[in-house]
Amino acid sequence: MDYLEIVGGQKLSGHITISGAKNAALPIIAATILSDKEVTLTNLPNVVDIRTLLKLLSMLGSSVEHDNTVAHINNGCMRSTKAVYEIVSEMRASILVLGPLLARFGECEVSLPGGCAIGQRPIDLHLKALESMGAQIEIKGGYVHAIAPKGLQGAKIIFDKITVGGTENTVMAAALAHGVTTILNAAKEPEVVQLCEMIRDAGVKIEGIGTNELTIEGTGGKPLDFQTVAIIPDRIEAGTYLCAGAITNSSITLNNVNHGHIRASIDKLESMGCRFDLEDNSITIHPTEHLKPVDLITIEYPGFPTDMQAQFMAVAVLAQGESLIEERLFENRFMHVSELNRLGANIWLKGSTAAVKGVKELYGADVMATDLRASSALVLAALVAQGTTKVRRIYHLDRGYDDLEGKLSALGANISRKKEA
Ligand code: EPZ
Repeated sequence: MDYLEIVGGQKLSGHITISGAKNAALPIIAATILSDKEVTLTNLPNVVDIRTLLKLLSMLGSSVEHDNTVAHINNGCMRSTKAVYEIVSEMRASILVLGPLLARFGECEVSLPGGCAIGQRPIDLHLKALESMGAQIEIKGGYVHAIAPKGLQGAKIIFDKITVGGTENTVMAAALAHGVTTILNAAKEPEVVQLCEMIRDAGVKIEGIGTNELTIEGTGGKPLDFQTVAIIPDRIEAGTYLCAGAITNSSITLNNVNHGHIRASIDKLESMGCRFDLEDNSITIHPTEHLKPVDLITIEYPGFPTDMQAQFMAVAVLAQGESLIEERLFENRFMHVSELNRLGANIWLKGSTAAVKGVKELYGADVMATDLRASSALVLAALVAQGTTKVRRIYHLDRGYDDLEGKLSALGANISRKKEA
């Protein structure tokens, strides 16, 4: 297995370009199932999760041409509607094919996504929404068996809690349903917005895009004809590199950024003492020598994102004082804590809150990545730890960061990918 070897202490400088958003690209790739014509997607991130979902479409019989950032997908020749365990267990977001497969073909079998390091992550809300649209759903042999022999019917859906994937699956199902679907308590993350815009631009009437209330007038089973979609910039990747500037006390510039999508991260780094120059679609961080502590509560967009919690914890480790970080979205998203403490951090867990007592120094050590965002937090800490740090199990990192070591090296970090002996 690969690992990253990082020698800490290098200041960063220069600029990098942020890639397309993994969490926008995944539902958008799934949404292409709603069409029987070729769809072109551009600015895809070159990450494992994208390749995994494209592999799933190919396994279902689609024609997929994919180079690093561009994919031409034609689902006109799909011949299977079974998303098998082997793929879904590799990437839980494969569950996003459930809504579009059911809407397009009237039946499908999708493996239940396995558990996940950060939490149980059930899909009960996805299934309840589809059932209210007339789907008959049975869980058997680890698979979701769904049928809608007369097609899906528009319905009024109120989500008990805000769910990004649940909203996305329901929007995609509603796009081909008979009649109007209203979704209350919908997620309004930028990735959900881009999915809705893609479906609207294919001629489906959608009201309330970007709000917690969506109204979708389905086509009654008629497949959609999508325009080319350019994936939005990855707000979590951008936030991660801003944290790299903050933790190494370096001024760096990120190109291809939508500032509006990262307001919460900018606001929190400003409260820690950093300053920012915002240009059209780039941002420059001006760090502070003495980081102030920060209090964070993770919540749905536009609040502070759970996907930035681990990265901010790494920055808070070196703040002058105690930071409190409360994780409200996932029940087990603190596995980076013990690994950060191995590098010399002083973090204490009290239920869903982490108390991060600032320290002056971190020291290189062997650490292990446990999930996607925890991995990036360990890399951030290693950038300033004295000596050498080896971050192992970086297959987690490769799922969602496009060439992280290449981008950090371009900024001046001493980081390289090595193979276990
Ligand atoms: C999406 O996951 C993202 N993944 C996650 O990013 C992100 O952390 C999460 O949204 C929250 O913003 C993708 O977009 C591919 P949810 P998703 O459904 O859709 C509970 C990353 O690092 N829930 O909004 O799975 C669930 O357990 C990943 O890129 C139910 O209880 O998240 C969680 O506690 C990690 N029942 C909360 O809702 C359901 O049916 C939010 O989950 C669905 C969700």
